[in-house]
Amino acid sequence: MDKLIPVINKLQDVFNVLGTDPLDLPQIVVVGSQSSGKSSVLEAIVGRDFLPRGSGIVTRRPLVLQLTHLPPSINDAESDVEWGEFNHRPNEMFHDFDKIREEIERETERTTGKNKGISDIPISLKIYSSHVLNLTLVDLPGITRVPIGDQPPDIERQIRSMVKHYIDKPNAIILAITAANTDLTNSDALQMARESDPDGIRTVGVITKIDIMDKGTNALDMLSGRVVPLKLGFIGVVNRSQQDIIKKKSIRDALVDEQNFFHQHSLYKNISGRLGTAYLSRTLNKTLIQHIRNTLPELKSKVNKMLGDAQQEMLTYGDPLYDGKVSKGAILLQIITRFCSQYNDVIDGKSPEMST
Ligand code: GDP
Ligand code: NA
Ligand code: MG
Repeated sequence: MDKLIPVINKLQDVFNVLGTDPLDLPQIVVVGSQSSGKSSVLEAIVGRDFLPRGSGIVTRRPLVLQLTHLPPSINDAESDVEWGEFNHRPNEMFHDFDKIREEIERETERTTGKNKGISDIPISLKIYSSHVLNLTLVDLPGITRVPIGDQPPDIERQIRSMVKHYIDKPNAIILAITAANTDLTNSDALQMARESDPDGIRTVGVITKIDIMDKGTNALDMLSGRVVPLKLGFIGVVNRSQQDIIKKKSIRDALVDEQNFFHQHSLYKNISGRLGTAYLSRTLNKTLIQHIRNTLPELKSKVNKMLGDAQQEMLTYGDPLYDGKVSKGAILLQIITRFCSQYNDVIDGKSPEMST
């Protein structure tokens, strides 16, 4: 079933090109206030530094991040090969993750300008690595209240409406991030999640910054769901502090320290198996697969209908490849047709992809 995520990702690419998402494909959407730790959580899941940093709203366009697991190579030298690819830079492999960060910054400014405005046109980035699980994550601008620089006065409303657009989709899994040193009952992330998912059936709570809570307080009540209940529960994490980042502590080292923090902590060691970034990644991967499985019957009938419509339309166009006037629309239709039939094969179990 894990092979379904790559197929869903291919479909997502096609619809990104088309600028629509008629199938409402399952994906994980990251939500939280500014500085709650969204970027830190994403980088920890990927295991690499690659997101732009800084103060103010750094994420100003949706970033659709498709993680693809590569099997570890038997050849040791190759086993650590990992790279990124952007949809807008086809056939270019980015092995240097600093270059990925620069490209995200450049591509953000290309549509938003340098004035800290936001744009709802997504940037699509794929990361291939033996250190990631198959996951599709969407990073969004942090919820903020005060406009800075020459940001429009209604920036908060703009960001909230962009977030809402993504998390309202019934197939979105909401990753609602709140810092442990803030009030969970006032969490922007949980408030927005509750509006879009009132029964809490597709919201996973993440509590960051457990290492810097006030002395004498702890996160046990929050993690247990006694403060705010959530069907899929809360997972606590410890990411790098600003000081760690300045000192260039690697994410790999931080992941080891995070494990040790929970294992050795008198209050958390008993539940340490359900805490930390590695557990979060596994939970998200399982949740996403379960979610795709639940939505398969509906997806399948939508895909079949699209396939039928596409075939009808192709008939009226004639064969676009031999037609002198090859339109972009006709070519896209062909691509969709091809992916739709692949997708059906996977769902029906005809494809060898399903055998593992
Ligand atoms: P975002 O605005 O939601 O993307 O938040 P960032 O991931 O950029 O984090 C904001 C700041 O909080 C950065 O300085 C991080 O280093 C710091 N931070 C994030 N998570 C943790 C954590 O678990 N513990 C500590 N001590 N600092 C954290
Ligand atoms: Na929050
Ligand atoms: Mg961020």
